Amino acid sequence: MRTQVGIVGAGPAGLLLARLLEAQGIESVVLEARDRHYVEHRVRAGVLEHGCAETLREAGVGARMDAEGLTHDGTNLRFGLKTHRIDFAELTGRGVMVYGQQEVVKDLIAARVATGGELRFEVGDVALEGLESEQPVITYSRDGGRESVECDFVIGADGFHGISRGYLPDLTAYERNYPFAWLGILAEAPPSAAELIYARHANGFALHSMRSPTITRMYLQVAPDESLDEWPDERIWAELHTRLADDSGFVLTEGPLLSKGITPMRSFVASPMRHGRLYLAGDAAHIVPPTGAKGMNLAVADVRLLARALGGYYAAGREDLLAAYSDTASRRVWRSTHFSWWMTTNLHKSPDDDPFDEALALAQLNYVVTSRAMATALAENYTGLPYEHDWYYR
Ligand code: FAD
Ligand code: PHB
Repeated sequence: MRTQVGIVGAGPAGLLLARLLEAQGIESVVLEARDRHYVEHRVRAGVLEHGCAETLREAGVGARMDAEGLTHDGTNLRFGLKTHRIDFAELTGRGVMVYGQQEVVKDLIAARVATGGELRFEVGDVALEGLESEQPVITYSRDGGRESVECDFVIGADGFHGISRGYLPDLTAYERNYPFAWLGILAEAPPSAAELIYARHANGFALHSMRSPTITRMYLQVAPDESLDEWPDERIWAELHTRLADDSGFVLTEGPLLSKGITPMRSFVASPMRHGRLYLAGDAAHIVPPTGAKGMNLAVADVRLLARALGGYYAAGREDLLAAYSDTASRRVWRSTHFSWWMTTNLHKSPDDDPFDEALALAQLNYVVTSRAMATALAENYTGLPYEHDWYYR
């Protein structure tokens, strides 16, 4: 089998890239290790930057998002029992879209299936060959046999635990592990506030988010080695009530839990994002702690660049955009890495209760809610810097 672009991984990065290439008449094959039901039901991110939502609309997959997603023009920071609203719309002219990642994935898969594009689930043992040649080959197991796809380019969009990153011989990894994790729940309960609440409390961080007018998504800071067994539903609710309390009578609505899970907190950046004809995109190249809501947004930003670079190559033989991809993408990655680290550091409690760290974090939070300049900095990072920004440093 032959194609122009072979894509490993059917997460937001791989699926959106296939869609953006298709729009330019470029053929691709997407290979995914899991089955369709699994990838469509994996609960992950929920906040789309303004530009990310725009990108999905431009790609022709924004209709359900616009019908069912929730537009938020601000967010709340809660600490010292006070709530401070950051008005994104007033500060930046932009907002964010609250729409589950698995819904984005469903929309992209439906679009791919509708146009008959190649998308293969349940492939095993993916291996890459000839990456330094002009005809790399992806091999994989399926239905008991070994198959291969010859391509012009290979895109590693197989997430943090994928195999693609292992094919970069001269990779430098920048890493930070945080001394805590998030316990996330999905509850069948109407959201208790119109917008998200990021709360810093003496017991640790808590986040109130949502998926729809009937489904609440919430998180609690827990120890990195925490076991879910230690968190029966009653303990989760008790801790959410405590950490999300404020002095104006906030009431948290409870409901049956639909899911719970623990997510580690890590920053990781791989550089460069390219070797020969292999290009990495999304979590395969970098991950951020979820406090800044940047993970999926970065994956989308990467594939926008890649789609443009591959488009330039096929339409006009341009190599310059492909050559610039890793450096260009890395600039946005590092901006988001800093923002996510900053949000994480200032909103979480350090496990060793260091009073100096505590005072610094509160000083930063107080600065954000009393300075228009600081509030604007938070708002423009959270809603997403314009994509053109990626090119400004050059
Ligand atoms: P992925 O979504 O990971 O997609 C990669 C795909 O490749 C997967 O479908 C995987 O099955 C497939 N794959 C892996 N290995 C292979 C292989 N060898 N061969 C073929 N296919 C393969 N971000 C936020 O902003 N907010 C959050 O609350 C949040 N929560 C998260 C919770 C968890 C548990 C995780 C893991 C991530 C979370 N993120 C969150 C991050 C966000 O979900 C990711 O940044 C986003 O999924 C990145 O998209 P991607 O397409 O690059 O990678
Ligand atoms: C979510 O709704 O899952 C969510 C929202 C904001 C974050 C992280 C996760 O920062």
